[in-house]
Amino acid sequence: MRDHAPNRPDLPPEIARRRTFAIISHPDAGKTTLTEKFLLFGGAIQMAGQVRAKGEARRTRSDFMKMEQDRGISVSASAMSFDFREFRFNLVDTPGHSDFSEDTYRTLTAVDAAIMVIDGAKGVESQTRKLFEVCRLRDLPILTFCNKMDREARETFEIIDEIQENLAIDVTPASWPIGQGAEFLGCYDLLRNRLELMDRADRNRVAESVVLEGLNDPKLAAHVPAHLLEQLREEVEMARELLPPLDLKSVQEGHLTPIWFGSAINSFGVKELMEGIAAYGPEPQPQRADREVAPEEGKVAGFVFKVQANMDPKHRDRVAFVRLASGHFTRGMKLLHVRSKKQMAVSNPVLFLAADRELAEEAWAGDIIGIPNHGQLRIGDALTEGEALRFTGIPSFAPELLQACRAGDPMKAKHLGKALTQFAEEGAAKVFRPMIGSGFIVGVVGPLQFEVLASRVELEYGLPVRFEPSQFTSARWVAGEKEAVERFAAANRQHMAEDSDGDPVFLTRLQWDIDRVARDWPEVRLTATKELHGT
Ligand code: G4P
Repeated sequence: MRDHAPNRPDLPPEIARRRTFAIISHPDAGKTTLTEKFLLFGGAIQMAGQVRAKGEARRTRSDFMKMEQDRGISVSASAMSFDFREFRFNLVDTPGHSDFSEDTYRTLTAVDAAIMVIDGAKGVESQTRKLFEVCRLRDLPILTFCNKMDREARETFEIIDEIQENLAIDVTPASWPIGQGAEFLGCYDLLRNRLELMDRADRNRVAESVVLEGLNDPKLAAHVPAHLLEQLREEVEMARELLPPLDLKSVQEGHLTPIWFGSAINSFGVKELMEGIAAYGPEPQPQRADREVAPEEGKVAGFVFKVQANMDPKHRDRVAFVRLASGHFTRGMKLLHVRSKKQMAVSNPVLFLAADRELAEEAWAGDIIGIPNHGQLRIGDALTEGEALRFTGIPSFAPELLQACRAGDPMKAKHLGKALTQFAEEGAAKVFRPMIGSGFIVGVVGPLQFEVLASRVELEYGLPVRFEPSQFTSARWVAGEKEAVERFAAANRQHMAEDSDGDPVFLTRLQWDIDRVARDWPEVRLTATKELHGT
């Protein structure tokens, strides 16, 4: 195993030491527990349990949050930074909805790698697969952590085969489990020839390591009972024969995933995984814009990938999460907000250290900073030191479910408009205002999102709302020459609406509507995605 030798010695050391990643998993696989242990080993918290305790305290604040809790979903996302040895880790939280949302997709545009956590008894579950597929679209490197090895788990080869077959990615073991369930002792670290022994007595203790001279080292017998030792030797021999070796290039291209086995709750395997992130998770990668933006460029450039509103209900503030693509940012810097062409003094940027906010005095390419604002910053927006850059690959998807939304009190329609616009800008839903009639059509990707929105409108704006079935089932953006689009809109007024950016949208009832447009209106194009690039 490479001992943290820089992958790109040409990068400024502050950038080279950054690792920006997200965790993808199915609910209950152990993402929260693993995050907690990351923070514990990163020295960001003193005792595991704090993340959850804070979460709990936050959750009791409202019924809406209670709904989150009851359903086991987490709607508020965050980014956290902490140090691990000489590295700075930036962990971007993927929202835990069981409905896939574009928010999740966009989160993954801000990271350079993903940690896939699977439950050793359950293998690859549906949500993991969906998230994995998104990572694959972007060729993100994936490191795998097979959790809950302290319980009855599947056979090691079976787990590896399942990942290879289900996800079509090669797997290489970084560690090999010894025993399982009640007999689980720990792992043999294949990269460092170490025996890692789990401490069941103290869940927050880092495992004891025994350095070995390979699998025939007589020291092994002192720690591992004969039947498990024999099994370990056989399995590792087979694994070395059948599975590919660890190759950094394949990992970083997203073709090969190293797998570590462990038990997050017992703090076991976590340190090795973190060492793996340091060694194999790439340093900040170039970001896609009209041109490729390299992290080592001297000037600061970044893009908004998430907007979170009402983080503090007392103040209507919003925080725009910005991934720095290049340069060295310092607090107070004036940056060009490319969409509005205005300069913006960034005087209160925040870094999220563990569960607390802290003023960011400086940040480097790869970091995520939060910029409080009153709504100027939207998803896809670029901030630069003067260049009119447009970042690409931050899409908005046509919603799959549409409903009409009405205020319980018709006098409050205008307020409702404001609330919905805010959610649209946050990326939580699509909001369309039909050309004919009043009211709004709201589009989402998963059905649970209507409930979440209704609770949020009520909680954050004091407005009871109703969602009702709509005659429309889908929406498409209309692209083409301005004049052709206008003619099209005039001829199809009963189908036309505007999205929250004022762009024309064609609301459809059946696939037939879309086919008809393709046949009758060759000069316009209906599209299911729209690029958000802040212009
Ligand atoms: P999530 O964020 O992916 O949804 O998972 P989370 O960490 O909340 O873990 C889900 C459940 O699995 C929790 O139990 C947690 O304690 C348990 N867990 C996590 N890692 C391990 C592990 O390595 N071994 C075992 N045996 N269990 C693990 P819970 O009962 O739902 O919650 P709690 O009562 O522990 O808080």
